[in-house]
Amino acid sequence: PHDSSFSGLRVVVTAGPTREKIDGVRFISNYSSGKMGFAVAREAADRGAKVTLITGPVSLEAPPGIRRIDVQSAREMNEAAESLFSETDIFIGAAAVADYRPAEPIEGKVKKGDSEMEMRLVQNPDILAGFGAQKSARQLAIGFALEEAGGIEHARTKLEAKNLDLIAFNTFNGTDSGFEVDTNILTLIGRGDETVALTKLTKEAAAGKLLDAVERLLPRKAKQ
Ligand code: C5P
Repeated sequence: PHDSSFSGLRVVVTAGPTREKIDGVRFISNYSSGKMGFAVAREAADRGAKVTLITGPVSLEAPPGIRRIDVQSAREMNEAAESLFSETDIFIGAAAVADYRPAEPIEGKVKKGDSEMEMRLVQNPDILAGFGAQKSARQLAIGFALEEAGGIEHARTKLEAKNLDLIAFNTFNGTDSGFEVDTNILTLIGRGDETVALTKLTKEAAAGKLLDAVERLLPRKAKQ
């Protein structure tokens, strides 16, 4: 570790997509690669934190020294996060959690019929909002908000609705920011009026800037 500013702090990071079962061979998911969450986890570990990474299916290796919990669905991710709640100082939600899941996943394989078909979806738990709602004064909740360009106000609304301490707004233009690519353009929004607009950075560098901002919240909160 090159820095021990997070020394002794227990950081939980969610990463990657979730998969919501349609039947035994199909699922609903999204294009999240897990790169941003893994970069955040690595950076926190480098700074001395004890890191647990709860990840959906991705093709990335967990950095050494990090406890990794693999999950598939949003409900599994939620269970893992809840089971760690009392031992979490900082929760960072970088996962692209599916908002909906098929109401009744089917056993086996759905057969093709000769007309259209409907599938009823129900809402998944909001993992980060759950953490935000329950957290004590010494726990920090950090989120990401992937929005269309100009969606910064939306991000600010999420910061408040989910009771977060910091949210990283980013867009998905497919080349410089968002899913799958190696770079990101983050705007960090805190409580109050502090906003830091970052330039295009590698996800590793962006993770560093995010954790710099989290570190500035520490003396007041998690460290005491
Ligand atoms: O999907 P949304 O824009 O509301 O996501 C904002 C933040 O909330 C992200 O940090 C994401 O990881 C988290 N989230 C979650 N559980 C959900 C939906 C979103 O933890 N079901």
